[in-house]
Amino acid sequence: MQFSLKEIYKDYFNIGAAVNPASIKSHKDLILKHFNSLTCENEMKFGNIHPEEKKYNFAPADKVYDFAKKNGLMLRGHTFVWHWEVPKWLFEGADRKTALARLDTHIKALTDRYPDIYAWDVINEGIDDRDDVLRKKTPWFETVGKDYFERVYEIAAKHLPGDLLFYNDYNEFDPVKRDKIIKKIKSMQKAGIPVSGVGLQCHLGFNHEAQFDEMKKGLEKYAALGVKIHVTELDVSNYSFDDKKKHQKPTFDQYKKQVLVYREFFKILRQYKNEIETVTFWGAADDVSWLNYCPVKGRKNGGLLFDENQQPKEAFYAICDF
Ligand code: GLA
Repeated sequence: MQFSLKEIYKDYFNIGAAVNPASIKSHKDLILKHFNSLTCENEMKFGNIHPEEKKYNFAPADKVYDFAKKNGLMLRGHTFVWHWEVPKWLFEGADRKTALARLDTHIKALTDRYPDIYAWDVINEGIDDRDDVLRKKTPWFETVGKDYFERVYEIAAKHLPGDLLFYNDYNEFDPVKRDKIIKKIKSMQKAGIPVSGVGLQCHLGFNHEAQFDEMKKGLEKYAALGVKIHVTELDVSNYSFDDKKKHQKPTFDQYKKQVLVYREFFKILRQYKNEIETVTFWGAADDVSWLNYCPVKGRKNGGLLFDENQQPKEAFYAICDF
């Protein structure tokens, strides 16, 4: 295999992968050949890195950080505020003030330890999927209140340059959700709250095949915010959203559809190369992917560009060929 993704895309955007301390060893050559930006899959999430008030678990994230630095790769930070991976102590006996003070300490600790991170997902998945604008079932909303986005970004801005602060979410091309994300970012911009980038997770599937127009429209609208755009967690599931069967592996026809989704999506992404800084895959190869256990444990999915033996798949060649 001669192609290197990061080489092919060097005039377009950075190419990233989510990794963990094991995969930086098992997938080292693949990572170094194709990717120039990394994200810790889980190691920087609150509950993992700061499990008790006075106890940090830096070692796993350190391994990824050191690997990135040693090999001249960039690193995205993921994530400070999320409704998952919240350690028990964080909201225990906490009112709004205490919760924000604890967050402040947390962000300071992480940004002091990892100074060379070029983008942080400050809030992850804070917009509601149904009728509300903000997701209400999260301790951040429940304890801090309806202005928690604003307060969180203000705190992050105390410790980080204003152009590193991202908002990250899924279903980002669904028109209703998209407009809510945009509305929230616009209202923060208007209030002078620093939010400088939007992270589009892009866990895609076949239902997205019919939605290329929405992807274009979405990118157009996000770009109009004047913020940086990162694709943060890209994969293309080979099964439809409602399919919860434990398939052994995708069929040839499913892979054919996946190739089409990858090819078209990258065609669209390339059109927005001036706005998109980074495109990150949620894993380097199919053997290390959340799609192998979610939503069906032990089901082989194969949502990435490289197979379980780290060999390039059809989708890889499809996005290299332009
Ligand atoms: C979300 C999170 C990620 C990761 C994926 C699935 O999208 O943002 O950190 O947990 O789900 O693994």
